[in-house]
Amino acid sequence: MNINTLTLTRPDDWHVHLRDGEMLAAVLPDTARQFARAIVMPNLKPPVRTTDDARAYRTRILAALPAGSVFEPLMTLYLTDQTTSTEIRAAHASGVVYAVKYYPAGATTHSELGLTDLAHAYPVFSVMQELGMPLLIHGEVTDPTVDIFDREAVFIERHLIPLMRDFPALKIVLEHITTQQAVDCVRHAPKNLAATITPHHLLYNRNALFQGGIRPHYYCLPILKRERHRLALLAAATSGNPKFFLGTDSAPHRQHDKQSTCGCAGMYSAHAAMELYAEAFDSVDALPSLEGFASHFGADFYGLPRNTASMTLIREPHTIPADITVGTDKIIPMCAGETIAWKIQG
Ligand code: NCD
Ligand code: ZN
Repeated sequence: MNINTLTLTRPDDWHVHLRDGEMLAAVLPDTARQFARAIVMPNLKPPVRTTDDARAYRTRILAALPAGSVFEPLMTLYLTDQTTSTEIRAAHASGVVYAVKYYPAGATTHSELGLTDLAHAYPVFSVMQELGMPLLIHGEVTDPTVDIFDREAVFIERHLIPLMRDFPALKIVLEHITTQQAVDCVRHAPKNLAATITPHHLLYNRNALFQGGIRPHYYCLPILKRERHRLALLAAATSGNPKFFLGTDSAPHRQHDKQSTCGCAGMYSAHAAMELYAEAFDSVDALPSLEGFASHFGADFYGLPRNTASMTLIREPHTIPADITVGTDKIIPMCAGETIAWKIQG
């Protein structure tokens, strides 16, 4: 079946890094052009820890939107060892905070103030369970003795399974999953465990990091895995199972921060997110499954209404820009300078 046009309900991005200041202004139009809403990650420096922080950040995002664009940022709080149940109740009541993000301290970019021990947050989890507020998990152990390619699978065994046992009704999103083990865990768990999947983990395996030399722009966390894991993710994303939905994890960094002796983790995909997902789904003839994954299942999981507007993708080869300007620096976007097959109409 050769599909050349695909119209779907306007999608949402359930995991994005919009940053702040100059970077926010540079990247926000890309997300707002494609997505009606997005779950905005709180790993700013300093992080978004309180409802007041979230309100102020939301105001800065709305102020940075291009004129006429309709986009709703769904805010999150960054969980620390100090987060209180009172703060969580206030966040839930605010109507602007939709979830709480758990970074194991030291797991990824700007996670230094994350939780040092899950046990510290047990009072908070019990309030979230009662309120039905989703916990978004960066699921990697930080134990330096664990191989970087195994950190997600080990996290599931050591931390996620005990957490689900202790809080059986807590809504959890295992973010940006990268392994067969994560797919299996989510598939077999009760319906309060879901997962987001990024375009880069659907399109690349770990060879991309070393294609002819070291490629810092393919470095993200969790790190790209073997081909068999990529295929498991692609099967999950295209399966029509509502537990798997779209979260780009678009994570812009300045070119000089990535191309350095200790380059930052994160890939920028917001410039062509839906086009890249279309590319991935098309590779296994699964374009009809894209709408559920991109536009329905995330809203259903969060208990929010589905969008009513639509978006059309067309098969029209086009070239991705080599870079995107941010002040005096640049972002090197995913697929920079390459030609891709799908394009958003209009
Ligand atoms: C993210 C970032 O840069 O903020 N980086 C990444 O590699 N995905 C943080 C995160 O989501 O892990
Ligand atoms: Zn992220």
